[in-house]
Amino acid sequence: MDQKIKSNLKKKIFIKTFGCQMNEYDSNRIFDITKKIKYFPTKEKTEADCYIINTCHIREKATEKVFHDIGRVKKEYKNKKKPILIVAGCVAQAEGDLILKKDNYVDAVIGPQSYQSINKIIKNIENKNKQHNITNFDTVKKFDELKLISSSNSKVSSFLTIQEGCDKFCKFCVVPYTRGPEYSRNFVDVLNEAEELISKGAREIILLGQNVNAYNDKNNKRLSDIINALQKKKNLLRIRYYTSHPKDMTKDLIEAHKECSKLMPLLHLPIQSGSDKILKSMNRKHNIKEYLKIVNILKEKNPRIKFASDFIIAYPGEEQEDFNQTCELMEKVKFINTYSFIFSPRPGTPASDMRIIDEKLAKKRLIIFQKLAERIKMNYKKKLLNKTAKVLFENKMKKAKDKYFGRDEYHNPVVVCSKKDIIGQEKRVLIRKFSQHTIYGELINTDKFLAA
Ligand code: SAM
Ligand code: SF4
Ligand code: F3S
Repeated sequence: MDQKIKSNLKKKIFIKTFGCQMNEYDSNRIFDITKKIKYFPTKEKTEADCYIINTCHIREKATEKVFHDIGRVKKEYKNKKKPILIVAGCVAQAEGDLILKKDNYVDAVIGPQSYQSINKIIKNIENKNKQHNITNFDTVKKFDELKLISSSNSKVSSFLTIQEGCDKFCKFCVVPYTRGPEYSRNFVDVLNEAEELISKGAREIILLGQNVNAYNDKNNKRLSDIINALQKKKNLLRIRYYTSHPKDMTKDLIEAHKECSKLMPLLHLPIQSGSDKILKSMNRKHNIKEYLKIVNILKEKNPRIKFASDFIIAYPGEEQEDFNQTCELMEKVKFINTYSFIFSPRPGTPASDMRIIDEKLAKKRLIIFQKLAERIKMNYKKKLLNKTAKVLFENKMKKAKDKYFGRDEYHNPVVVCSKKDIIGQEKRVLIRKFSQHTIYGELINTDKFLAA
């Protein structure tokens, strides 16, 4: 076929995304970039001309899982034309050489800071079919080039990455090695992207960063400046941000929780452990007293605020007393949502050399902790019954007739029945029942909001 006609044909790209919201944001941006070379997103994973695995390296067996996935792609395409296979994300950054060496079915590995080069790489592979490793830390270039490409995201709740990387070096964590040093995007670029998302239908913007509250651009604009600017955007209803570090909960940011009505009253503030001894050994740079002080000031400023957190259970050196303190902290703050995992030694991090805790004991502690967290969450949900909640509706459910999915101000998933299309609207809902993951309610037929 004529080379010109061939390059004008539409192609399909499929991305399998693992890990955090930042990977989700990146996958959407890869879709935006590759449209320029006529690759269009497909949901059919066996029909792709280009297949991308966007990986996460945060916990155990990450690299093995990638090889497992590569094996699955090989099987799925056994009797078909081989797709261009690219491994992207944090495992690509950390283990790129190994992946390419071990499996020549993989055409390229590309780190999270290099997505701006993806079209060039795909074109090179189409033409020469040689393996590529692009894993430099060029965050500035990434965002400078991405800002020139319009976003096709039209979700009611949209992610917007404002910060990348981390300089904190908690001893257990791979992020400083996979995402590189802290970098904050330019304030004006962030607001332009927010404007674009709102014009395409976003009613909630979730500001993202590995340390989102460490945001500090060249002109000393802080996260609170972004929140204050977004507060003024007419069609935007809600603002959230993840993930924060306690050390960066500055006064101006705390004040925003009082002043900005669009900033949702749920703060995800990872603590990791309830023991000062363990926090110190993790190099967390905050202690329990400081953490609780932030919680209490925020509650004073905004009595409706609630908290979510991350915990690492059975970190090396965690004794029964340390674990008890973690459970006590859970009882004290009554986090309404928690993410808890057993410590996983990550290659190359300082904690990977520390003596791990007996597996059986670690699992036992995790079960105890998760049961406690579940009890607290269920008690909280019980109190919601027969009360009203403000819900922003995101989509119609695919398999259930006239059912709409949304989230309340505390990010709880809520489902209601409606004959009318309510996508993109914030409505009052009377809470009737709940399951482990979802709240069910009825729309209140009044324009006037009832007091919750
Ligand atoms: N920057 C955030 C903070 O300071 O807490 C956390 C970002 S990290 C991507 C998300 C969560 O993964 C952490 O809060 C931690 O609980 C968990 N995590 C990171 N490394 C881990 C490890 N080696 N083992 C178990 N959990 C880990
Ligand atoms: Fe990882 Fe968060 Fe610690 Fe940074 S602050 S090293 S991202 S856990
Ligand atoms: Fe995973 Fe990388 Fe996010 S390690 S949690 S995808 S920053």
